[in-house]
Amino acid sequence: MVPGKWCACLLLWAWMLCRPALAAGPEGVIPVPWQVETKVGQFHLTETMWWYTDLEGEAYERLAEALEAFPARMLPCNKAVRSQLQFRLLTDSAALPGPEAYRLRIGPRLVSVEALTDAGLFYGVQTLLALLEEGKRLPCVEVTDHPRLAYRGVMIDVSRHFFSIDFLKRQVDVLARYKMNRLHLHLTDAAGWRLQLNRYPELTDVAAWRTEPLWKTWWNGDRRYVRHTEGDGAYGGFYTQAEVRDLVDYARRRYVDIIPEVEMPSHSEEVLAVYPHLSCTGEPYRHADFCPGKEATFEFLEGVLDEVMDLFPSEYIHIGGDEAGKQAWRTCPDCRRRMEAEGLATVDELQGYLIGRVAEYLHAHGRRLMGWDEVLQGGFRPTGDAVMSWRGEEGGVRAVQAGGMAVMTPGEYAYWDKYQDAPPTQPEAMGGYLPLEKVYAYDPVPDSLSTEEQARILGVQGNVWAEYVPTEAQMEYMLYPRALALAEVAWSAPERKSWPDFRRRALQEVERLQGEGYRPFPLRQEAGHRAESLQPVQHLAVGKPVTYRAPWHPAYGAAGDAALTDGRRGDWSFAGGDWQGFISRQRLDVVVDLQQPTPVRRIAADFLQVAGVEIYFPATLHLSASTDGEHFDPLLDETYRVETALPYACRRMEWLGNREVRYLRLQATASPEHGGWVFTDEIVVE
Ligand code: ACM
Ligand code: ZN
Repeated sequence: MVPGKWCACLLLWAWMLCRPALAAGPEGVIPVPWQVETKVGQFHLTETMWWYTDLEGEAYERLAEALEAFPARMLPCNKAVRSQLQFRLLTDSAALPGPEAYRLRIGPRLVSVEALTDAGLFYGVQTLLALLEEGKRLPCVEVTDHPRLAYRGVMIDVSRHFFSIDFLKRQVDVLARYKMNRLHLHLTDAAGWRLQLNRYPELTDVAAWRTEPLWKTWWNGDRRYVRHTEGDGAYGGFYTQAEVRDLVDYARRRYVDIIPEVEMPSHSEEVLAVYPHLSCTGEPYRHADFCPGKEATFEFLEGVLDEVMDLFPSEYIHIGGDEAGKQAWRTCPDCRRRMEAEGLATVDELQGYLIGRVAEYLHAHGRRLMGWDEVLQGGFRPTGDAVMSWRGEEGGVRAVQAGGMAVMTPGEYAYWDKYQDAPPTQPEAMGGYLPLEKVYAYDPVPDSLSTEEQARILGVQGNVWAEYVPTEAQMEYMLYPRALALAEVAWSAPERKSWPDFRRRALQEVERLQGEGYRPFPLRQEAGHRAESLQPVQHLAVGKPVTYRAPWHPAYGAAGDAALTDGRRGDWSFAGGDWQGFISRQRLDVVVDLQQPTPVRRIAADFLQVAGVEIYFPATLHLSASTDGEHFDPLLDETYRVETALPYACRRMEWLGNREVRYLRLQATASPEHGGWVFTDEIVVE
């Protein structure tokens, strides 16, 4: 070793010895601040600390509550000169970059936080708490910080499974600590209506309760609602208006807005079971979509929104808008009449009519509409409204180009119902693989947009859909630490982000959350990517042409016609990687041309099963070989029982032998009973 290197090592060793154990300090803060200047010295906390602020009224109370998190007796004092911590509002709006920005100075004797608003001071307090070393000291630093994006959110689906108000409050505590400021509640869906409304008691007397606790059992079973007093199996729940007001107030005190979502025109099976007259045919248990032809539908929706707006003061009211089938609209006389009267050519335009009319209603009451990106179908222009872009970023891009706002929440990065680690090691999830590193890598502001359009990217959100999240423990497991990664995506300067550094901080925070009784994913035990996917595999068919006798599906094309002989194996994610998907009638039917007679000893292919999205192992496999490409001799014929209950697995088909081959044909079919997709990633020939 060269002497220079020895020197560097000694310095590093000395620095590591002097560094405070576990924690915090400027290297511990999530989200990482925009600017940190380290100074010499420390500020020591004593048993009693005096603090001063020029805030008044409720803002003063909120600050006092936030300061209770300090491990000291925090006493307010009305003379700044006698205080050790000062929290002041600045009057010059040019002094800081925005309403949530703050400047924090820690000297050996004085801590001062300045901001333009009480929200900014609150975030300064969160940084102070994150800087605390062993609950005793603050390092002398100067921090200047502000959020990159205004909307920093998480969505919890409380319909598919129900989560208590106390649970939601505990999540608000975590969100606020990491400077997140929106909690979106998916309050209504087929699986249960969760909001008490005075005008529509059947929604909570009946539509909030179902026959089975587990969503999966219920969804694959009778899909019935029951009065919760009926029988002994009723599962469900709802939030009373008093509970909602309490939650909204609790969150507001921590600078978190609750965004309520009430689904329309679709995902409304539960409403139409109790109010069937709001559907096209008037029959219960037949429809997911409201009938936009009937005035009664609008009376109902407006009646619901009246109470929603009364309960939730948020600027945006989320009206869902996703995945309407619109099938019954095509033949419904009321829908036809509406289309003629309004000059609407298609059922998409009929949806646009409904969304536009609801937006006007919200605007007339001083609110803005928020909806999933399908609200853009059929001509709705989101002026002043916001689109939540979940099918990629395209909807968000279209929204900002049309003068609206966008919250980016693309499935690939922001759907936290996916597996966060190797699926065979995880409780059942929706399918797909979204590890922490990928959440952290997301950038919600597309480069392709103009500066003006970029400014209308309101923010970013992570969503935990709860089909496979039956317990509160499981909800926390899916949320954390992914919400911490998103907090940094939403708040921090892109150039300050660093995955290895974030991972180190996240490991610490996971321990801290565990210490507080939360149940995050234990990041330290992460198994990670599918080993086969980490490096290319060399074999005799790499680069050889493949003829598809049945097509691959464009949504899951991987590398197209080259995918099965490109040496690249799939990771845990069925989408967007190296797995190729087949759904045509014959499913998989390919011929690999080795281009010359080749002695072959082994042929293998892996198949994927992701039951939640109906990707199943094949029911039959047929492998055959030929020298002329016309006459094929069978090598392997297998029949399997498709087990739809197996949530996620890979299975290898393998032939071992010794034979000269030029053409190889691989066929795989689905079971007539279960149908579904067939997925494979590579035909390995050795
Ligand atoms: C959605 O995932 N249907 C918004
Ligand atoms: Zn209709």
